[in-house]
Amino acid sequence: MAVPLQDTLGRPVRDLRISVTDRCNFRCVYCMPKEIYGRGYQFLERRQLLTFEEIERLSRVFASLGVEKIRLTGGEPLLRRELERLVEMLGGIPGVELTLTTNGSLLPLKARVLADAGLRRVTVSLDSLDDQVFKAMNDVDVPVERVLAGIEAAAAVGLSPVKVNMVVKRGVNEDSVLPMARYFQGSGHILRFIEYMDVGHTNGWRLDDVVSAAEIVATIGSELPLEPIEPNYAGEVARRYRYRDGGGEIGVIASVTEPFCGACTRARLSAEGRLYTCLFATEGHDLRALVRGGASESDLAERIGRVWRARGDRYSELRSAETADLPKIEMSYIGG
Ligand code: GTP
Ligand code: 5AD
Ligand code: SF4
Ligand code: SF4
Repeated sequence: MAVPLQDTLGRPVRDLRISVTDRCNFRCVYCMPKEIYGRGYQFLERRQLLTFEEIERLSRVFASLGVEKIRLTGGEPLLRRELERLVEMLGGIPGVELTLTTNGSLLPLKARVLADAGLRRVTVSLDSLDDQVFKAMNDVDVPVERVLAGIEAAAAVGLSPVKVNMVVKRGVNEDSVLPMARYFQGSGHILRFIEYMDVGHTNGWRLDDVVSAAEIVATIGSELPLEPIEPNYAGEVARRYRYRDGGGEIGVIASVTEPFCGACTRARLSAEGRLYTCLFATEGHDLRALVRGGASESDLAERIGRVWRARGDRYSELRSAETADLPKIEMSYIGG
């Protein structure tokens, strides 16, 4: 039997996050600050992007190496034309669960075609219910109402439970934590609060801007009593809590205050086909050149295996004031 693929810390490759575009119609302060991503920013050109056929081919190789879950991300994945065609192609890979992370603004238009193409679940980013705070977080004029309509459109076509991701940044949207919890309690959607991370090197991250998961749980728990519940699966990123009086669950993702690198089985593929073994990696490995250069399936598996076996990343466990300033790949490029 073949030796199972593991990195230097014994972690297998289980999840693959594929960025299908580096563009986004939002510019969240924690991800694509407008000072950098405004007019004049050079996004990738079409010919630089992996084609759907190339993505499918690589995905099948990753599946053969142990990947069980593929998440389509961006930038904003729904900006990639005919994404439903890719969904259909990847849906045909046996043993792989396919999901998608989106800002939700195009879901009212796209939820139905995506579900029909075989998508099963979506995660929607939403940082506040207040239009002014929302706009301060993302610099666009999309009303919150439109994202809420996207969430409902997804649930209505069975892309459920919808997970809602809220990144909390001190002094910007921390006052939205309780209103968001109240709004989504009992909705059937699962709200998750995420500690603001030092991804990339353009968002000007400071530790003081982080609202810890413990603080978030205490804030919500003081009004809506909570109790912890077991993870759904080993290595789940979110820690789960349930409302004591019913009304569903929430999650907190404590990537800064309680890092979870020990169980990190995630590989990331950028829109131009570079493989990254950590969200905070500085260098990727070019798989596009191999694919376009006529590599066989076993050449690709061999190359990916070599990169994964050499992996020792655990950035979040090593984070310090000094590491926050290191050059790192941007989250909008590598995918949330
Ligand atoms: P599901 O359980 O399938 O919903 O997946 P998930 O919990 O991994 O969800 P998702 O991809 O939405 O991750 C939520 C957020 O957690 C991301 O947007 C990041 O902010 C953070 N996160 C996810 N993966 C990593 C990781 O590998 N490292 C770090 N530091 N943060 C991560
Ligand atoms: N900190 C934490 N999460 C982030 N995301 C993007 N930038 C950051 C950051 N600086 C994640 C959010 C969002 C997804 C697309 O990427 O979870 O929902
Ligand atoms: Fe766009 Fe998502 Fe990044 Fe916000 S977090 S700028 S919606 S890719
Ligand atoms: Fe995985 Fe890197 Fe995040 Fe740690 S910091 S959980 S190794 S992606």
